[in-house]
Amino acid sequence: MFISMEGIDGAGKSTQVTLLKQELVNGGHRVVDSREPGGTEGAERIRSLLLEGESDRWSAETEILLFTAARNDHYERVIQPALQQGAIVICDRFADSTRVYQSRGKDDLKKRIDSLHSLFIGREPDLTVLIDIDPSLGWYRALARQNDETRFEKIGLDLQVKLRAEFLNLANKEPDRFEVVDGNRDTITIARDVYDRVFRKLMDRRQKEAYPTQSHCLS
Ligand code: ADP
Ligand code: TYD
Repeated sequence: MFISMEGIDGAGKSTQVTLLKQELVNGGHRVVDSREPGGTEGAERIRSLLLEGESDRWSAETEILLFTAARNDHYERVIQPALQQGAIVICDRFADSTRVYQSRGKDDLKKRIDSLHSLFIGREPDLTVLIDIDPSLGWYRALARQNDETRFEKIGLDLQVKLRAEFLNLANKEPDRFEVVDGNRDTITIARDVYDRVFRKLMDRRQKEAYPTQSHCLS
């Protein structure tokens, strides 16, 4: 199963990826966790190009190409092989982040992002956990981090509010893929909620695998 963790900056995604991985490993699953942009040597290099420097370093269009190039390398070398070997893959951000951050809410950019994704990668996660948080809380948490990856943190709180709304829009459009989790709670309460939803999805998939022809019988 391929799981992505999404949400605005500082939502608690990385924290929840670590806790979910631990819980699944304790349950006997083989788990590969990774992050975007990054996850391979080449994609980590692209990450530095994308996250360091001034906000106007790249246009939205060039960013789409760079994020997709990094994702393609990550997908080919890490995600796809792990899935083929039967692991559960948990990815901290995936294509929905490009849809939300690089489209800037513009329909023509959204279409180009989707075309590029289906042309080169063509795979969506089986489950996307959206950690939904008050943008000002996420913003202050993200600002408290001290590193060189500040390019996207310069975009301001107003934009974080819009990004949150865009993530919720995507979740509304694909309710079967998305689980929206309230991230404004303590870490352990959120982790239990995330695990419950992942567990339910795993059980659903097992049931479908065990009775693959059930829907044909009923129709
Ligand atoms: P993201 O990956 O979404 O940017 P992180 O998991 O890195 O978020 O969390 C950002 C910061 O907030 C970290 O310092 C982390 O320890 C803290 N944090 C994460 N989840 C919570 C929570 N539920 N309550 C309080 N602090 C949290
Ligand atoms: P990340 O390290 O996940 O940041 P955070 O821990 O603050 O959530 O991602 C770094 C930044 O890259 C983040 O501001 C979102 C941005 N980003 C995009 O704009 N498009 C993308 O496709 C991805 C994967 C990330």
